[in-house]
Amino acid sequence: MLSKGLPNEDIMVAAHDTTAALITFLLRHLDANKDAYAKVLQEQEEIARCKAEGEALSWEDLCKMRHTWAAAMETLRIVPPAFSMLRRTLADVEFGGYVIPKGWQVMYATNMTHWDQAIFPDPGRFDPARFDDPAALAPYSFVPFGGGARMCPGNEFSKVETLVAVHHIVTRFRWKLADGCDGSFSRHPMPYPTQGLLIDIEPIH
Ligand code: HEM
Repeated sequence: MLSKGLPNEDIMVAAHDTTAALITFLLRHLDANKDAYAKVLQEQEEIARCKAEGEALSWEDLCKMRHTWAAAMETLRIVPPAFSMLRRTLADVEFGGYVIPKGWQVMYATNMTHWDQAIFPDPGRFDPARFDDPAALAPYSFVPFGGGARMCPGNEFSKVETLVAVHHIVTRFRWKLADGCDGSFSRHPMPYPTQGLLIDIEPIH
């Protein structure tokens, strides 16, 4: 996601807007999928019950957030923050009956892979169970963070940010999408809800 030109601004986009988009769309999907939300809430409340007042989450706590991260992965599948990436061919490549000559630039579209029904049946359905066993996924079938040598170096960090944010949102607040929220979004190039993330939210304690 980094390009030449405005390095500071690009790093902000690479590190901030991507994770913000993930958390935003995760909340939207959890609001619309009560079963998935119930699993996330139960998992997070179990972790919260074992913590003293004000005690920080540990790495071990994050490792227990299996359902929450599965829901986040399903969100990244349906709405990948980075919808495409560029690569340059180092040799002639034959693909699908076409030869792509050495030196050509190729753009892969993350959505096309994530919405391929041969890989993810019924791709429009939000189903975190697809990621119950991430090791079973075919190589390069789930590529929200890209792949290969230039894969996103911030992917584990964004996982930490997302899990910590969701933990506090679901255990400390009662929330739901505001009435009239129409679910639309547009890309600039990151996905943003057209109306912003309109939620009704109040502290639990
Ligand atoms: C949900 C969150 C994120 C998503 C979906 C995401 C996605 C991506 C993707 C698709 C790429 C291109 C990978 C490729 O070409 O194969 C990338 C590159 C990059 N990302 Fe992320 N990213 C996220 C969070 C972060 C964070 C938190 C940081 C930094 C703290 C970060 C830093 C970078 C950098 C520096 C690159 C360029 C790597 C290179 O060109 O070698 N990203 N990211």
